[in-house]
Amino acid sequence: MKGIILAGGSATRLYPLSKAISKQIMPVYDKPMIYYPLSTLMLAGIREILIISTPRDLPMFSELLGTGEELGMSFSYIVQEQPNGLAQAFVLGADFLAGQPGCLILGDNMFYGQGFSSMLKRAANLEKGACIFGYYVKDPRAYGVVEFDEHGKVVSLEEKPEAPKSNYAVPGLYFYDATVTAKAASLVPSARGEYEITDLNKLYLTEDTLKVELFGRGFAWLDTGNCDSLLEASNFVATIQNRQGFYVSCIEEIAWRNQWISTAQLMTLGKRLEKTEYGKYLMELAK
Ligand code: G1P
Repeated sequence: MKGIILAGGSATRLYPLSKAISKQIMPVYDKPMIYYPLSTLMLAGIREILIISTPRDLPMFSELLGTGEELGMSFSYIVQEQPNGLAQAFVLGADFLAGQPGCLILGDNMFYGQGFSSMLKRAANLEKGACIFGYYVKDPRAYGVVEFDEHGKVVSLEEKPEAPKSNYAVPGLYFYDATVTAKAASLVPSARGEYEITDLNKLYLTEDTLKVELFGRGFAWLDTGNCDSLLEASNFVATIQNRQGFYVSCIEEIAWRNQWISTAQLMTLGKRLEKTEYGKYLMELAK
């Protein structure tokens, strides 16, 4: 399974911050936002990742993340000229996927909770069909919404419905089999002019190969869409880190725990940031 991070878009609700800097580079407490979705892919065991962003922002991501070699990974980069929709990631990423299954995560989606790694690994082992997720929210109108029948079977998917048929929003994390490239290429733009991820998911629903896993109420899927939710996400990360002493979404730590880099390599990465708390944390792990 290969991974794609889509980190584009205009982030109008974060203006004027978003005028100065890409949303996904903005800090969530002590790390750039993109570290959080990147760490999700890493926890799923995905090592080969394509980062898609705007012509303005892509160079910032490649400067920040490099080739991935230092993490025992491989990163590539491609521009999305216009924000034409999430499903376009699989058209732009067709050469990168080269007929393999793919996971897409949105560059501003943050997940945190017990049992997440094993859920991710299960989803990443999928051979046929698609696996997406559902999360109960108070107001799902800004999201893709999934409706279930009384047996828990998915009956419908709708993008940003005025009158949602359930409270289950679909987070920006999607696992697809190898047919995803052809399916994405067959989509037509929606009324709002975008290649919708919900339409892609509907193709799997029609084939009866769409699995929706639910995150429970003890799980956090955080929003970073406006200044308040961005601050709340920062406070959430700070609260967990300061209480436990474990870092949330520390990519170097995950690479090391995945055995993609050695303890000596982790020490080298830590030493480079020796003067920071982050660097000290890495060095402590590598001791
Ligand atoms: C997108 C998807 C939507 C999904 C959401 C998750 O919305 O279209 O189905 O629920 O991401 O963050 P957008 O960010 O384009 O408003």
